[in-house]
Amino acid sequence: MGMNRLDGRKALVTGAASGIGRATAERLSAEGAFVFCVDIQAEAAEETANQINGRGGKAFSTSLDVADRNACVAAVGAARDALGGLDLLANVAGILRPGHTHEQDPDIFDLTIAINLTGTFNMCRATLPHFLENDAKPDGGCTIVNIASAAALQGVPYNAAYGASKAGVLGLSKALASEYARQKIRVNAICPGGVSTPMTAAGFPVDNIDPALFARIAPQMPTIGQPEEIAALVAYISSPEARFMTGSGITIDGGQLA
Ligand SMILES: NC(=O)c1ccc[n+]([C@@H]2O[C@H](COP(=O)([O-])OP(=O)(O)OC[C@H]3O[C@@H](n4cnc5c(N)ncnc54)[C@H](O)[C@@H]3O)[C@@H](O)[C@H]2O)c1
Repeated sequence: MGMNRLDGRKALVTGAASGIGRATAERLSAEGAFVFCVDIQAEAAEETANQINGRGGKAFSTSLDVADRNACVAAVGAARDALGGLDLLANVAGILRPGHTHEQDPDIFDLTIAINLTGTFNMCRATLPHFLENDAKPDGGCTIVNIASAAALQGVPYNAAYGASKAGVLGLSKALASEYARQKIRVNAICPGGVSTPMTAAGFPVDNIDPALFARIAPQMPTIGQPEEIAALVAYISSPEARFMTGSGITIDGGQLA
């Protein structure tokens, strides 16, 4: 890649075992960051860290359920200790459990909110005190990038819980951006459309769906996004080049919302 925009940055990435999170950990490292990888899939998160270390980067990993508030505080502390500080957070962990809303077990709604929205909040809340006490903030400030979704901005059928959680992530990101801008902490959200990852490879395991409802959420481009393309946007937003960007929700969706 040949870019050193994140030289010496101390980054924490959730969901780093797979898909967009793994690509993000790898991209941040490729641009010079030290990376602490967390995921509920401990072994796969360790594999991400091992791959980064094998290529000459510096990475650590630990297992974390982002829905567990106390565990988030502990993991953020461990990341700060391992990296010698903390100035970049990427919240990528998430789940997608589609279904007909009137038939789906409401526990799935609660779980989706607990991981996608409250989990993102837990990580932001645990990290902000470290950012605030960081007197050596990097050029462009300390940064949080939260992965929301195009589903935050457009109704996606059979995804009420997911859409609600991701709209919440967008609102949370904007609130934090306005609250901490003066302390040189930037907070942004990315709203991807369809991206090729294990999450989407699972297909759409819902019976009796109306295919016509999907036409309006199709990308205009005859393609699907790649995790590396989302990771590249995370790296840009986290870098000094994006020092004027905070409180944004950036779509990257092949024209889905065009
Ligand atoms: N793939 C897409 O089309 C798409 C589109 C828009 C937004 N997103 C969002 O991007 C993010 C990454 O998704 P992906 O496509 O890479 O999927 P993925 O399933 O490959 O990765 C999600 C990761 O989150 C981890 N995770 C799940 N629950 C967790 C928990 N409680 N604590 C910690 N880690 C947990 C999983 O173990 C997994 O490694 C998600 O937030 C997803 O909602 C994905």
